[in-house]
Amino acid sequence: MSLIEQSSGSSFTISPVSDVIGAEVVGLDVSQSLDPETLAIIRDAFQQHHMLCFREQTLEDDDLVAFSSQFGPLEVYPEKGHTKDKIEVYHVANVSLSGDHLPAEDPTVIYQRNNGRWHTDSSYRYEPSLASILYGIEVLPDEAEGGGTGFSNMLAAYAALPDGMKAKLEPLHQVHSYADIRRLEPSIPPMSEEERDAFPPVTHPVLRVHPDRDYQRSLYFTSNTSLEIGGMTLEEGKALHRWLVDYVGHPEFCYSHRWRKNDLVMWDNRVLLHRAIKYDFARYRRVLRRTTIAGDATVMGPFWPEARAAAGA
Ligand code: OGA
Ligand code: MN
Repeated sequence: MSLIEQSSGSSFTISPVSDVIGAEVVGLDVSQSLDPETLAIIRDAFQQHHMLCFREQTLEDDDLVAFSSQFGPLEVYPEKGHTKDKIEVYHVANVSLSGDHLPAEDPTVIYQRNNGRWHTDSSYRYEPSLASILYGIEVLPDEAEGGGTGFSNMLAAYAALPDGMKAKLEPLHQVHSYADIRRLEPSIPPMSEEERDAFPPVTHPVLRVHPDRDYQRSLYFTSNTSLEIGGMTLEEGKALHRWLVDYVGHPEFCYSHRWRKNDLVMWDNRVLLHRAIKYDFARYRRVLRRTTIAGDATVMGPFWPEARAAAGA
């Protein structure tokens, strides 16, 4: 645990929550803008731990947007109707904006179900998201099963791959398409033509190279949109996906966050996959609110000139 004195005289702690992912930040009120020194400490901790949980926050949507904007511009969501008052704030819940507990077949709830598949946010964008920030407003009681958020570390997962699998994955790209969520969840309403045109399918390398981490590699894929892998038949691509999904769920790469009310959890979409852990939708209410920090580059693959030069190729 590290105890950090802020210039204002107050102090907060940053403590790892597992060996592989995450730290909790206690004693820092993020409804106030962070001074440059504190922001630098938080950025470093984020780079090191990939997921930070700020405990005991009291935030309105405006505060959530203000906090998030300190890390970069925010994404605006591809579809209307998921936001509260702010177009940058996503309502992640099985409860309507007016507070009604929704039936399992409601599209808002189906989105939550789709979040149960390992994924990384906004991979359907040419420049996928850098980080997501999720605020716990209504969370499950301690005795309930599920309802947490699972994370898997793709740097560790790549490093532990057998050499043959690393070689197999090296040239591959996956298709990512927002509209294709409907192939997995057909009851999600169609997008308008305008929305579809704004988000055409993209491809990203399955191995991601991180220039900000000395060109280290990670796995980069999703299981909640398209399952096509370039150069493979749909069946081959699906079989590879199944293998990857099973692989990234191994406990040595994973940390599961159990929500407490007023947790603010921020994770790095470049190096983690995440998923909502299944719970009884009918029995429990769950309300979270999310912002997403936009990425500033597309995904670098192993064959980019910069990545090849770094690898000495
Ligand atoms: C999301 C998401 C996970 C959860 O909002 O992008 O995947 O546990 N949420 O609700
Ligand atoms: Mn997500």
